[in-house]
Amino acid sequence: MSGNEVVSIEEVGKVALVCIDNPPVNAGGYGVRKGLQDAVAGINADGRAEVIAIYCAGRTFVAGADITEFGKPPRAPIMPDLYNELEQSALPLICAIHGTALGGGLELAMACHARVAVPGARVGLPEILLGLLPGAGGTQRAPRLIGIPAALDIALSGRQVPVEEAHALGLIDRIMEGAPRDVALAAARAVIAGELAVRRTSDLAVTPDDAAIEATLAKLTSKRPALLSPRRCVQAVAGATLPFAEGLAQERRFFMECLGSDESRGMIHAFFGERAVANIPEKTATPRDIQSIGVIGGGTMGSGISTSALMAGLPVTLVEVTDEALARGVKTITANLDGAVKRGKMSAQKRDAALAGLTAMTGLDGLGNVDLVIEAVFENMEVKKEIFGKLDRICKPGAILASNTSYLDIDEIAATTSRPADVLGLHFFSPAHIMRLLEVVVGARTAPEVVATGFALARKMKKVAVRAGVCDGFIGNRILGHYLKTASYLVLDGAHPDQVDKALEGFGFAMGPHRVGDLAGLDIGYMTRKRLAATRPAEERYGGAIADRLSENGWNGRKTGKGYFVYEDGKTLENPDLNAIIDEARAGAGITPRDFDDQEIVDRYMTAMISEAARVVEDGIALRPVDVDVVFLMGYGFPRFRGGPLHYADTIGAAELVRRIEAYAQEDAHYWQVPALLRRMADEGTSFADMNKGI
Ligand code: 3HC
Repeated sequence: MSGNEVVSIEEVGKVALVCIDNPPVNAGGYGVRKGLQDAVAGINADGRAEVIAIYCAGRTFVAGADITEFGKPPRAPIMPDLYNELEQSALPLICAIHGTALGGGLELAMACHARVAVPGARVGLPEILLGLLPGAGGTQRAPRLIGIPAALDIALSGRQVPVEEAHALGLIDRIMEGAPRDVALAAARAVIAGELAVRRTSDLAVTPDDAAIEATLAKLTSKRPALLSPRRCVQAVAGATLPFAEGLAQERRFFMECLGSDESRGMIHAFFGERAVANIPEKTATPRDIQSIGVIGGGTMGSGISTSALMAGLPVTLVEVTDEALARGVKTITANLDGAVKRGKMSAQKRDAALAGLTAMTGLDGLGNVDLVIEAVFENMEVKKEIFGKLDRICKPGAILASNTSYLDIDEIAATTSRPADVLGLHFFSPAHIMRLLEVVVGARTAPEVVATGFALARKMKKVAVRAGVCDGFIGNRILGHYLKTASYLVLDGAHPDQVDKALEGFGFAMGPHRVGDLAGLDIGYMTRKRLAATRPAEERYGGAIADRLSENGWNGRKTGKGYFVYEDGKTLENPDLNAIIDEARAGAGITPRDFDDQEIVDRYMTAMISEAARVVEDGIALRPVDVDVVFLMGYGFPRFRGGPLHYADTIGAAELVRRIEAYAQEDAHYWQVPALLRRMADEGTSFADMNKGI
């Protein structure tokens, strides 16, 4: 009776302790499964122990199946079979949880005869976030332990349930303090002493709850109609009222169906993508120590950035020009932090501590001692240059000077200082205390450790940093600027803004581009078009006529109550004046409108997005295709189940994309040009995924 390289056995009196040690997160790969199978069978056969207790080494209990094994041929014992086998152990089998018991980890725990956990542990079934459903008995055992409604909530949200709640629900039998090994041992002794009850979960009865099942299915149909895995998950949970083996077989069928879907491939790509973007050339550089931050500008962005820094425990010095503006900034930050308390993101006590870290003052002179300054004033190059010139004189040596500009040239800004190596772009997304994306814009002379500091700061702020090169709009806004023109061309040529939005919402975007425009404020696009007017090539078709007229009428979207739509009493209504504006713009351009079906709208919009994304990769603005994907998933509401624009592009294929662009170019050869990279990929039969390999 011995373990293997990742599962070991230790005998302590009548207790057999089984330790899983498979860093970094004890994922249930083949070695773990085989090790558990052999260990539990061996201990049972050996006959010396009275109880078997499983625990994990390292930072967490089993965090799920090994996701890297998905898509490869399954290797026995597969999880659901193994867990059935473990559950049938003649000796009582218990486990001690620390860290996060997720997915196949929680399913392992539920197959044990009792579960204890340390304070601070969390449990969950996050398979849904990977386009899957619990596939190792979770949909069958959770309803037996906690009832159908609670099982549905946990499996459909994918959330991490705090141990206290899990205990109250009956998912965890006891909360016990101590190191995982000690807790496992103590719990096992409690079983021997008859103080901790054991039973097989599959023997428990399930209370049917058709009403909960039907209400949940109805909600999914109206809210997330495009997704397969939530629907299958509910159906699998409903199957818990069947005999155990039947319910389990159904769960397995649904799991395999989801595993083979584009949806799960997209979401698994997103999962690894969020982690892969940290792989940058500067990753070996040592980040500078950041203990304090200065923020210039108390508007929406500056306040959001300050909030985010304060929530991360960093003291912030907020600087504004006037006392009034400063007071507004402090008020916004306070409201943001209050909101975080309301949403359960922080305690009232933590909010008070965060606010105590805020210093507000007018003038830049108070920034002499901070480790990093983020400038977040309005987008005007001259103003930014003046500020950076002053910062250069005021800030201490080694302080990092960052701009939150969303498109301006970081190199030009850096050139106004005597320390361009200390300058970079930190492009936050609004609302900055909520959005998790940070574009770290690397100038020609930015030092590697300054880039590494940007990434370290993002981690501290619980954000995902993506490395971007310098160009107008960096990764996200450059691509956005390009494909939004397609939306305007579609409307000029005959589609209605509402149809365009609905088609793209059907594709999976949370909101179509016109609703997003109304939300962000149409004045932003208006100013961008004015700024770029002088550099617009003569051959470029102008798509802004309709949006210009809306802005000129003062209809800048939600904040003015009217834009593409009218906003009244929390409702989005038609704008009765919109059609006249559209007709006028079409007439002005001599266009006879034609019909578009929803598929053509989606195809044109996505092809435009992919084209510019390909150029961004080719120009080296993004390191790899996956970096573009993560920017869009985290910053632009791109549907996660599609994996990002370039992951989605691979589902179409480069050859088909080239064919489409060439067809569209018949009408507009300036806008629709085949990117050289895409042409090469089509010729060579390669994919964007090929360019992500090795990360
Ligand atoms: N399989 C394989 N690798 C995994 C993994 C998994 N389940 N979970 C995490 N990893 C890897 C990450 O990719 C990362 O690798 P890297 O260092 O090379 O980038 C490393 O482990 C550390 O992960 P994090 O950086 O995410 O570490 P954190 O401490 O921030 O978070 C965590 C830990 C909360 C466990 C988080 O990693 C997580 O949420 N993991 C996924 C959990 C999950 O989805 N489990 C369900 C899997 S599906 C399943 O179980 C199917 C079953 O029902 C049959």
